[in-house]
Amino acid sequence: MKTGIALRHVRTAVSFALALSMLGATPRPVRDPDHLIVLSTTDVKGKTSPCGCHTPKGGLARRAAFVDSVRAEHDQVVLVDAGGFFPETDSQRDAGPFVMQTMNAIGTAASNVGDKELRFGYAFLREAVRESGLPVVSANLYDRRTGRLAFAPYVIVPAGRARVGVFGLMSGSADLGPARDSLRVEDAETAAVRTVAELKKKGATVIVLLSQLGKVESEDLVNAVEGIDAAITGRNVPMLQRGRVIKNTVVCYGGEQGWYIGRTSLALDAAGRSLSGENDMIMLGPEVEAKPAVFDVVKAFEDALNDRLRRLEKERAAAAALTAEDSDGDAVDHYVGAEVCGRCHKAEYDQWRTTPHARAWQTLVDEKKDATPECVRCHVVGYQKPGGFRTADDASRLGNVQCENCHGVGTQHEAYAATKAQVPEPVCRGCHDATTSPVFQFALYRPHILHQAPANMPALPPNPAKAKMKGAGTH
Ligand code: HEC
Ligand code: HEC
Ligand code: HEC
Ligand code: HEC
Repeated sequence: MKTGIALRHVRTAVSFALALSMLGATPRPVRDPDHLIVLSTTDVKGKTSPCGCHTPKGGLARRAAFVDSVRAEHDQVVLVDAGGFFPETDSQRDAGPFVMQTMNAIGTAASNVGDKELRFGYAFLREAVRESGLPVVSANLYDRRTGRLAFAPYVIVPAGRARVGVFGLMSGSADLGPARDSLRVEDAETAAVRTVAELKKKGATVIVLLSQLGKVESEDLVNAVEGIDAAITGRNVPMLQRGRVIKNTVVCYGGEQGWYIGRTSLALDAAGRSLSGENDMIMLGPEVEAKPAVFDVVKAFEDALNDRLRRLEKERAAAAALTAEDSDGDAVDHYVGAEVCGRCHKAEYDQWRTTPHARAWQTLVDEKKDATPECVRCHVVGYQKPGGFRTADDASRLGNVQCENCHGVGTQHEAYAATKAQVPEPVCRGCHDATTSPVFQFALYRPHILHQAPANMPALPPNPAKAKMKGAGTH
C-alpha cells in the first residue's frame, strides 16, 4: 500500500535523524535533565486532519510538528495516547489502522485501548496492532480463550535519567461490542495495584497511567492507588485547560479529536523520580504548522478513502435503483432543487447564487471530501432523505446549501408560501454549530444571506478557515 511505504519514509527519516544525533562528534549534554515531558492525546476518534470548518484544529501532521518542536528543546520527552483513537462511524473504519501506523511513525511510546478500538472486533484490532507496530498497552483486558492479557500490560521507556513505565486501563462498564465474547475486563484498581508494583520492581522511576475510565473512575483510582505520577484521562472526559494534582498524581483531562495535546511536565530528582508536576493543554490550531511528510501521507490516505467511499456510494445507489419501491423521487414529500424554485423566485435565486452557500459543494470537492459522509450532510440538500442528495451524481441539482435547507422541502411549498417567509435561528444552528461555526451570531450572519441586502451590512467575525487548509499544509 502506498501510504505504508510513505509512512516508512517518515519513520526512516525519524530514526535516521536519531542515529545522526547519536553519532554526533561531541556528545551533547541532555537538555533540561530535570524535567520529563509527557505529551498526550486521548479520544482522537479517527480524526486524521484538522476539522475542516471554521477554525480547523488538530490533525496528525500538526501533532507531529508540535511534538518535534518540544523534542527540539527537551531530551526527556515521551509521547503517549490514552486510547479511543478509532473512528465512531463504520465508513471511516480504515482511519483506525491508519492512525495507529502514523502514531507509530511519529514515535508514540504507548497507546491504551478503549471500547472504540473494539467496535470492529478483537481480531481486527489485533491485526492492526501487528501491522502498525504501535506499542499498545492494557493491564486489565483479558483474552477469554487463553485466559491471558490481550495486549502487553505496560511498556518501560528510557528517557534520559528517567525510566518511564506506561500502562493502560479500560473501564469495567465499557461496551466491548463485537469483542464481548472474546474479551473480559478485570477490575481496574486490582490491575493498577499489581501493575504499579511490577513496574517499580522492573525499575521504572516514573509511572504514567493511560486511562479510559472516564473522569470519576479515573479520579477515584488515582486516589486509591499509590505510585502513579501522571494520569492521562479519556472517554467522555471534559477538557480542562490546566490539569489537577490529586494526592501525588498529576491528572490531565480530556481534549478529544486530536484538537489538543496535553503537556505534563514532571520535575525529576537525581535518580529520575518524579518530585512534582503540572499539566496544561495546547490547542493545535492553524498557527501550528503541519509537518510536511506527515501531511502528505494523511492527504494521500484521506483522498484514497474519499475515492473508495464515492465508489461504494455509486454501487449502493445503483443497487437501490433496481428495487422498484425505492424510487422515492415520487415520494409524497421530496426535495426539488434550487433551479425549480428559481423559475418563480428569480430575484432570490440570483442573490443566493452570490452567497457562500451556493459554493458549499465546491468547497468539499476542493477538499476531496465530497464522498465523506460526515462532511457531506451540511454542504448539500436533504442528505440521505427522500428525494434528497445521495451521491455525487446528484450534485448539480442538490449540491450546495440551497433554498430548501432554509425554507423546507419543496413539495411542502403550499404550506410555507401561505405565510410570510420565516427562517428562525435554529435552522441555521442545524449546520452552524459549535464545531463548524464557533463564532456564529445570528444577528451578524443573517444580513449576509438576506435576499435584499440591508443598507448597512455588519462585518462578519474574522474567519480563520479563509486562511484555512492552506495553513494546514505545505501547499
Ligand atoms: C411555480 C412557481 C413557484 C415555484 C416553482 C416556487 N414558488 Fe415559492 N412562491 C410562489 C408563489 C406564487 C408564492 C406566493 C407569493 C406571494 O404571495 O407573494 C410563493 C411563496 C414562497 C415563499 C413565501 C414568500 C413570502 O412572501 O414570504 C417562500 C419562502 C417560497 N415561496 C419559497 C420557495 C422555494 C424554496 C421554492 C423551491 C422549493 C419555491 N418557492 C418554488 C411561487 C413559486
Ligand atoms: C444546510 C446547512 C446550512 C444551513 C441550514 C445554513 N448554513 Fe450558512 N453555511 C453553511 C456552509 C456549509 C457554509 C460554508 C459555505 C462554503 O463557503 O463552502 C455556510 C456559510 C455561511 C455564511 C458565510 C460565512 C463566511 O464566513 O463567509 C453565512 C453568513 C451564513 N452561512 C449564514 C447562515 C444563516 C444566517 C443561516 C440561517 C438563516 C444559515 N447560514 C443556514 C451551511 C448552512
Ligand atoms: C454540522 C454541519 C457541517 C458539517 C458536518 C461540516 N461542515 Fe463544513 N461548514 C459548515 C458551516 C456552517 C460552515 C461555515 C462556517 C462559518 O463560516 O462560520 C462550513 C465551512 C466549511 C469550510 C470553509 C469554507 C470557506 O472557504 O469559508 C470548509 C473548508 C469546510 N466547511 C469543509 C468541511 C469538511 C472537510 C467537513 C468534514 C470533515 C465539513 N466541512 C463538515 C457546516 C458543516
Ligand atoms: C441561508 C438560508 C436561506 C437560503 C439558502 C434561502 N433563503 Fe430565502 N429567505 C431566507 C430568509 C432569512 C428570508 C427572510 C425571512 C426571515 O426574515 O426569516 C428569506 C425570504 C425568502 C422569500 C420571501 C421574500 C424575500 O425575498 O424576502 C422567498 C420567496 C425566498 N426566501 C425564496 C428563496 C429561494 C427561492 C431560495 C433559493 C434560491 C432561498 N430563498 C434561499 C433564508 C434563506
